[in-house]
Amino acid sequence: MSNKLIIFDTTLRDGEQSPGASMTLDEKVRIAKALERMRVDVIEAGFPIASPGDFDAVKAVAEAIKDSTVCGLARALDKDIERAGEALRNANSGRIHTFIATSPIHMKMKLRMEPDQVVEQAVRAVKKARQYTDNVEFSPEDAGRSELDFLCRVLEAVIDAGAGTVNIPDTVGYNVPDQFGSLIHSLRERVPNSDKAVFSVHCHNDLGLATANSLSAVLNGARQVECTINGLGERAGNAALEEVVMTVKTRKDIFPCTVSHIDTTQIMNCSRLVSGITGFAVQPNKAIVGANAFAHESGIHQDGVLKSRETYEIMRAEDIGLTTNRMVLGKHSGRNAFRTRLGELGVEFKSEAELNDAFARFKELADKKHEIFDEDLQALVTETNLEMENERVQLVALRVCSETGEKPEATVTVGFDGAELESVSQGGGPVDAAFKAIEKVINSGTNLQLYSVNNITSGTDSQGEVTVRLEKGGRIVNGQGSDTDIVIASAKAYVNALNKVLASKQRAHPQTGDV
Ligand code: KIV
Ligand code: ZN
Repeated sequence: MSNKLIIFDTTLRDGEQSPGASMTLDEKVRIAKALERMRVDVIEAGFPIASPGDFDAVKAVAEAIKDSTVCGLARALDKDIERAGEALRNANSGRIHTFIATSPIHMKMKLRMEPDQVVEQAVRAVKKARQYTDNVEFSPEDAGRSELDFLCRVLEAVIDAGAGTVNIPDTVGYNVPDQFGSLIHSLRERVPNSDKAVFSVHCHNDLGLATANSLSAVLNGARQVECTINGLGERAGNAALEEVVMTVKTRKDIFPCTVSHIDTTQIMNCSRLVSGITGFAVQPNKAIVGANAFAHESGIHQDGVLKSRETYEIMRAEDIGLTTNRMVLGKHSGRNAFRTRLGELGVEFKSEAELNDAFARFKELADKKHEIFDEDLQALVTETNLEMENERVQLVALRVCSETGEKPEATVTVGFDGAELESVSQGGGPVDAAFKAIEKVINSGTNLQLYSVNNITSGTDSQGEVTVRLEKGGRIVNGQGSDTDIVIASAKAYVNALNKVLASKQRAHPQTGDV
């Protein structure tokens, strides 16, 4: 058995299934390139049949990525597989990942199919996918609640049909580490042709066990882990890539396999990129990438770390690409220094006009904020990208009056479908007043589900990064905005979310929706 652990990232597919985490084509390509720089083995780019936009995004990722394998998801249906094959046509290395549910509850209630029919459809799907590529993965959805004998039967049949990877999903996050490890062990023992395929796992985090279950599977012979940056994913998310990779790297003494091909110094960059684009902030105490993960607050710890870092540190901050906040650029930095530093962060500009736009924003920011850090640059580029083509709403001007004993009042000028409109509103606070004034003009009828502010770096001159989540008719979007003035950052985030609501189109969910 190979001692390489294959890292399969599904941030762009399962990650995007988190309500509100949808990404544009350009954002997906940016994240894919960052994953490729990390030398992730497989990038699952999406579910091509979900919508024309999803198809285009998988195709664009397949065309932009040269070193990693690009994968497209397809239900075990001819039309899904044809669409995935088409989207991956220009990939240097493409994989089709096809799946069908195998648990009694899913077969009976969701598929309304008999077990024999499920086996037949699974085999047919793998054979069909093999017409497009030699690299086919099969998943028995809800394997974590499937019957062992039936699972063995399905896996033997799909391996015979040509699946080179068989992925065991704990779709609903129900399993616990010992039991899930034993499941992988039993499958490898009992499936007669198990040596002909790589065993993979895909764990959800409903009980907070996704990483532990994945690693237990690795100890029992799994050689591919499906994971996402920051643990993003459906409901409570998937196993976090950074946790899986850093555990295997740190505990070489325990794991019989290696992740030495992964460039872990790209972890922080990817984490910030994904949280900036999706608006899903990383909790401060999140393992590996949380703001406190390498902060030593207590005097005893600080003293120990200063004497010898190993007293309290099991990993080096540099290994995940965490450099101490250093001022990277300032007011006098020129275009070249700006372009070079962003290049080092993996940001390429598509045109001179895009570079000029970002550079103008940088100069504006440098006027307000003396020291510009990597985090500021990343937020600035995210914001440049956030401005969507043909956006219908623009924030033209905002004035807010906030005074002790008085109700805050906001006056906004908003561009809407080409017209400039002004409105005034009072609110419980300055942000509330600003949102109400904007809503008076747009009349979106959306519900605000979440409002959160984070400071990008430290200090009161830091930029505030705001996320606004809006819901309308069951569709959820996240908007982001950043500025040194948090009321303006909030208004930008609200306008960004409104543009997404106005542009959002129907798309299917691979596991629960119809296409
Ligand atoms: O959780 C799951 O079962 C999935 C499959 C499509 C692999 O995401
Ligand atoms: Zn999943």
